[in-house]
This record gives sequence, C-alpha cells and structure tokens, in this order.
Amino acid sequence: MSTQNRTIIVAADEAEQTERAADLMAERARAAIGERGRFTLALAGGSTVRPIYERFAAAESINWSCVYLFWGDERYVDPANPYSNYRLSKESLIDRIPIPPGNVFAVPTGERNPAAGAKKYSECIQTFFDLKADDLPRFDLIQLGMGPDGHTASLFPHSAALAKRGIAVMNHAGLAPWVDRVTFTFETINHAACVLFIARGAEKATTLHQVLEGAPNTKHRPAGSVAPVDGELIWLLEPAIASQLRGE
Ligand code: 6PG
Repeated sequence: MSTQNRTIIVAADEAEQTERAADLMAERARAAIGERGRFTLALAGGSTVRPIYERFAAAESINWSCVYLFWGDERYVDPANPYSNYRLSKESLIDRIPIPPGNVFAVPTGERNPAAGAKKYSECIQTFFDLKADDLPRFDLIQLGMGPDGHTASLFPHSAALAKRGIAVMNHAGLAPWVDRVTFTFETINHAACVLFIARGAEKATTLHQVLEGAPNTKHRPAGSVAPVDGELIWLLEPAIASQLRGE
C-alpha cells in the first residue's frame, strides 16, 4: 500500500518485521553515508524495538563512525534506570557496535527538571546541525513506535506537548511508566527526511485503523499527525496490528 509519501508494509510475521526493519535502517544508513558522509538517526523506546536494534547492530558494511544517534523521546530518569530509552538502545545497539562515544547524543536527564533537559537537548541538536534560531533539524531517519492510545514518541493524547513548537520539549506521561518525558515536537518529526514507524500487537489494531484510515485528530490520536512535509513516511507492521486496515 503506498500513497504519495506514505508506504504501509505488512510483514508476514514479527520475525520478518524485525528483519525488514533492521534491513531498512541499514540500507538508509549506507545510502546516507555514501551520499553525505553521515547518517543521523533518532531512536525510539518501548519493547518492540529491542530485537530490531539487536539485528541492526549486526548489519554489515556500515561505517559506524559516520552514524550519529539521537532519541525521539526519553523518560526523565537516570541512564541506568530500567525505564531509560538510552539504556535500552545501549544494551541492544550501542554496546554492540564500534561507534565513537562522541556520536551518541543521549537526552540529558541530569538537569534540574525535564524542561531544562529538553532545552539542553534542543541546544545540543541545534549545535550539531548548525542551525539558526528557529530552524529545525532534518534527521535522515526518525524511528518511532505507537502506543495503544495512539501516542508516538512521548506525544500523548490531550497532552500539552502536542501544541508545542521547537525541537524538543518536556511532557508528562500519558501511560506507564509514569515518569516525565522529553520528546521531539511534531515540527521536528515532520521535518525529517524519513520517518519509520515500527508497530505490532493485536491490542493496537483498532487504534492503528483510526490513525491510518480515520479522520486526522491530533488530540485523540497523535500518531496520525505524523506527516513529513518533505520526506517519506513508512509504516512497517505485522498482520495482527494490521488486521483492521481496509487497505488503500
Ligand atoms: C516510549 C516510546 C513510545 C513507544 C511506544 C511503543 O518511550 O515509551 O518511545 O512512543 O515507542 O509506546 O512501545 P511498545 O513497543 O512497547 O509498544
């Protein structure tokens, strides 16, 4: 299924979804490094991505010193905390690849509060991409998940961050774990060259149907408002979560 800039891929099962997701990330990395000498990637949290990052870590022919890692959202906890998205990526990806520590831009979670952490993270991204005041970064790939409530990154239904501008902002949790978050804004996500959603699970099938085939409703279903202005949108699914899609 593919419309102008949106491609929906339904893999045969979760194993194939994992394989295709990791392959797609690896292909994008090789292409970006070949064309521009670097690959900027924003990672996600949640349980779906762990096996995908493990497989991505084993990809061949990637010059990891040209890969730069960021996070689309983070739980405001110590990096060693089991809730930390950084920790998840460290265990499943970073510790398995020869990436220079200077290429890893974790969300700072040691600031006095999450808003200060979001500000510092935004400034760090601004410096990395050499941006002027209100410019937005263009990540080569922002990888996202979707929660059963239709949230993505830490953009939860009816939350304050949905309307915020800028690169990254703080938000309160809309689902467990109940810790404050730092999240990319819609502006940042929609400025990416490519956004890759990887989602699975029968319990999310109704939400996914509303997100992909219902009328856009940012407050109820934030994930449906991800639409890169000048980039690609790919949804990589498995049959259980895609069971209610009518197709296009
Ligand atoms: C987080 C996320 C979040 C996640 C989805 C899907 O920090 O919780 O980044 O947006 O990607 O909730 O999570 P699962 O893969 O666990 O379903």
